[in-house]
Amino acid sequence: MSHFPKDFVWGVACASYQCEGAWNEDGKGPNIWDDFCHDVTYEYVKNRDTGDVACDSYHRFREDVALMKAHNIQVYRFSISWARVIPDGEGEVNEKGLQFYDDLVEELLANGIEPWITLYHWDLPSALQNKGGWLNRDLVEIFGRYAAIIAERFKGRVQRFMTLNEPQCIAQCGYQNGNHAPGLKLGEEKVALVYHNLCLAHSEAQRRIKAICGDDVKVGAVPCGTLAYPETDTPAGREAAYHASFDLRQGWNFNIFLDSLILHRYDDSASEGYKRFAATIDPADWELMETPDFLGLNIYQGFMVDEQGREIKRYPGFPLTACKWGITPEVMRYGPQHIYRRYGLPMYITENGLSCNDVVYLDGKVHDAKRIDFLNRYLLELGKGIADGAPVLGYLQWSFLDNFEWSEGYNERFGLIYVDYRTCQRIPKDSAAWYAKVIETNGESL
Ligand code: NOJ
Repeated sequence: MSHFPKDFVWGVACASYQCEGAWNEDGKGPNIWDDFCHDVTYEYVKNRDTGDVACDSYHRFREDVALMKAHNIQVYRFSISWARVIPDGEGEVNEKGLQFYDDLVEELLANGIEPWITLYHWDLPSALQNKGGWLNRDLVEIFGRYAAIIAERFKGRVQRFMTLNEPQCIAQCGYQNGNHAPGLKLGEEKVALVYHNLCLAHSEAQRRIKAICGDDVKVGAVPCGTLAYPETDTPAGREAAYHASFDLRQGWNFNIFLDSLILHRYDDSASEGYKRFAATIDPADWELMETPDFLGLNIYQGFMVDEQGREIKRYPGFPLTACKWGITPEVMRYGPQHIYRRYGLPMYITENGLSCNDVVYLDGKVHDAKRIDFLNRYLLELGKGIADGAPVLGYLQWSFLDNFEWSEGYNERFGLIYVDYRTCQRIPKDSAAWYAKVIETNGESL
């Protein structure tokens, strides 16, 4: 029996830099990922891959939308390349860039697919990085203006906006570990400042969008992290998994961003650098923070804990994806419940999926049984989580097409549709037909 409510929505997600290509066409300005990939002094990205062409969706979006329609996709979450629309991030609007997204939105609507917009999926205009990037509080206002320009253009046509994708990656991969653009390796207090500016930027954008589009349009933020699931489904097990999920010593957390944005505090488990930063926050800043209308959760893997909250080490030979992430479907049942208990907001799964070593078989098709099995397991667990009471309103698979996987380049294939990067030919994998059936039956086929 399926636990997906009648109006549950099903879709797919992608991001500008990962699929569009056309990196310097029609007046687009450079962004930090263009710079990062083109850097000749250091190989930041495997094989020196770049997003210059990617899936060439900038030119092939009509073909992509037709494929979505053929696979029953109801929602397409895509991101806008800020530098395509405002080449230096804060000055003149590039009408041709805006027109591209307008055409995409029209094409989606004409095919009965809802367009959902992410404003920022990591591709900051280079000119703004030259001003300090997210360390510079001026970006709060500048991001708000950009959000308002997008809201004005798409008002009445787009019902869901997401401000920032994975603030954790923006701050920690971009400013702390340096494995994402802009490739900085800064100390904790600076990273905390980035998080703080991101909270303010989300809030400013949300205020501006709601003022323009009205209250029926919903604005969300899309955090990520690793959540815990219990070894035993007992009250003590669940309680332990809840607390382990929000213990900041675990490193990769939803709450470093969400506690600040929604609860206006830092967890006691925060490390010294964050605590020192927190002590400098002007209390008036908390008043500026806007609680999102919904949370978009990007959930890929979790970790298991015992009733004492101790992490249970994965056994030898534990099932892994191609990029060596654990296959842990249970996180899809318990994760949204933990998030709901702490923040009380409606949720969408805005990303979930896996990379596989997909190949084109002798028969010309791509048989990705592993992806089907993975998604089936995760969706069954999501159904249980909804039955347990987590208000998850929809599920977006990552990703429709294989695409540019950041510092992993094109090594990792996450798509339901295979992309031959030599020709940009699209080949639907077996999982695409499987997912179309899941959507058609609202999860009954699982
Ligand atoms: C999260 C990111 O939002 C997306 O850009 C990335 O490709 C997927 N996870 C897979 O790593």
